[in-house]
Amino acid sequence: MSTTATALCAPLAVLGHDVRVPLATGEKVGYAALDYAASAPALQRVWDDVAAYAPYYGSVHRGAGYLSQLSTDLFEQSRRTVADFLDLREGDQVVFTRATTDSLNLLAGALPVGTRVYAFETEHHASLLPWRHAGLTVEYLRAPRSHAEAVAALDAALAADSAPGPRLLCVTGASNVTGELWPIAELTATAHRHGARVVLDAAQLAPHHRLSVRELDVDWVAFSGHKLYAPFGAGVLAGRSDWLDAAEPYLAGGGASRTVAREADGSVAVEWHTGPARHEAGSPNVIGAYAIASACRALTEAGFDVLEARERALVERLTAGLAAIPEVKVLNLFGEGSARVGVLSFVVRGWNSSHFSAALSAEYGIGVRDGLFCAHPLVRTLLGGEEAAPSECGAPEPSLPGERSLNAIRVSFGAGTPEEHVERFLAAVRTLVTDGARWTYRSEGGRCVADTGERAA
Ligand SMILES: Cc1ncc(COP(=O)(O)O)c(C=O)c1O
Repeated sequence: MSTTATALCAPLAVLGHDVRVPLATGEKVGYAALDYAASAPALQRVWDDVAAYAPYYGSVHRGAGYLSQLSTDLFEQSRRTVADFLDLREGDQVVFTRATTDSLNLLAGALPVGTRVYAFETEHHASLLPWRHAGLTVEYLRAPRSHAEAVAALDAALAADSAPGPRLLCVTGASNVTGELWPIAELTATAHRHGARVVLDAAQLAPHHRLSVRELDVDWVAFSGHKLYAPFGAGVLAGRSDWLDAAEPYLAGGGASRTVAREADGSVAVEWHTGPARHEAGSPNVIGAYAIASACRALTEAGFDVLEARERALVERLTAGLAAIPEVKVLNLFGEGSARVGVLSFVVRGWNSSHFSAALSAEYGIGVRDGLFCAHPLVRTLLGGEEAAPSECGAPEPSLPGERSLNAIRVSFGAGTPEEHVERFLAAVRTLVTDGARWTYRSEGGRCVADTGERAA
C-alpha cells in the first residue's frame, strides 16, 4: 500500500494540472507531467502575480514615468527576495541572467585569468563546458561512487596542484540524471581549505530543497526560473562580488555602463558599473525576475519542510514500486538508497528507452524524458560506458523500437505533482513490462513515434 497515503500536504497548484491529451487510440486522458527536471509547470501563484503586474509593465532603470518607476522598484525588490530565498551573505549580489547555463557562462567569463577549474565528469553540460574558456584550465574529476570518494578525489586533486593562483570547483547540488544529492558542505569545506572557491549548480536543487548560501558557504550559486515554476526566461547567478566587479561586463551595452565619453583621439572611454548592473546590460527581463521572486515567496510560504516531506514520500513510493519490477534498473551513482530529489533515471531490460517513453506517452498520457540528459559522460558511466554512442542533447540513439537502448528514461516531479501521477506511472511501467506495448511505433528523425491507427498485433 502506498506509503504516501498518510498526511501528505496537497500539491501546490500549477498550470496544466487539468490538461487532457490524446492517446494513440484517440481517447483523451489527464496529462501526467513527469518531466519537471527539464522544465517545471508554472505555479498558479506565479502566473497570477505576473498577470496582476502585467498591466503595470514598464521599462526598468530607464523611464521617468510612473510605470517605469514601479517596474524598476519591482525588479530591485525581486533581487532582494531572491537574496533572502538564497540566504545570501552581506555583500553578495544577485545577477539576473537567462538561466543556469547563462549564469555559469557569465561566471566563467568573470574568472581571473589563469583560474584552474575543477568539475566532476558527472556534471550537466552546463557545468561541464563553460570552463573551456580562453585563459582558464579545467580538470575533470572521475565519477565518484560515494560522497566520501567525491570529497577525497577533490582533496587529492587540490593537494596535487599547489601552484599559486585562483581555483574554482563547480559542482551540482542534485544530479539532473539520478536526482542524487551531492555533499556540498563537505566539498566546499575541502575546497576552501585549499583556497579554492565553489560555485553550486542548483538548477535541480533549488526547486526541491531549502538553500542557504550562508550555511553551505558556497561562493556562488546558479539556478533557472523555468525549473523553479517560473517559466519566463530568467535565471540567477548569486554570490561574491569581488571577481564579478573586477571582470569585464558579460555583455557590453547600456545599463552596464556608468559613463561613456568620446575621447579627443576619437576613441570611446567607458566607465562600467560595479554590482549586478555590470553584467545585466540591455533591457532587463523584469517579468522573468518578478516571476522568480514570486516562486521564491510561494515556496517559502508553503514551507520547504512540508514540501520536502511530501517529495520524500513520493520518492519512496516511486523507488519501492520500481524495485518490485525486476526488469527495471534504476541508475544510481552513490548506490541504492542514496538520498535524492524527485528525479530518477532507469532502463528497462529488453526495451529501447525511446520506445518505452513513447509508449508511456501514447498509451498512458505520461510525459517523461529519454536520452542522455545533457550529461553524456555520466549516463554512459551509469549504463556501462558505451563510448561509441553519438547523440545530440536529449536525442535517443537511432536504434529501432525494441532494440537495446544506449540511453535512459528519466521521471521527475515536484511540488505540483499529485500522488496519482506517480501511481499511474508505476502501473503503466508494470503493464508495459508485463504485456508489452499495445501500439506499434516507428523511428522518425531519431525519435520513436506511435504509428497512426496501428495497434500491436
Ligand atoms: C543540473 C543542471 N544544471 C544546469 C542545467 C541547465 O539549465 P538551463 O537549461 O536552464 O540553463 C540543467 C538543465 O537541465 C541542469 O539539470
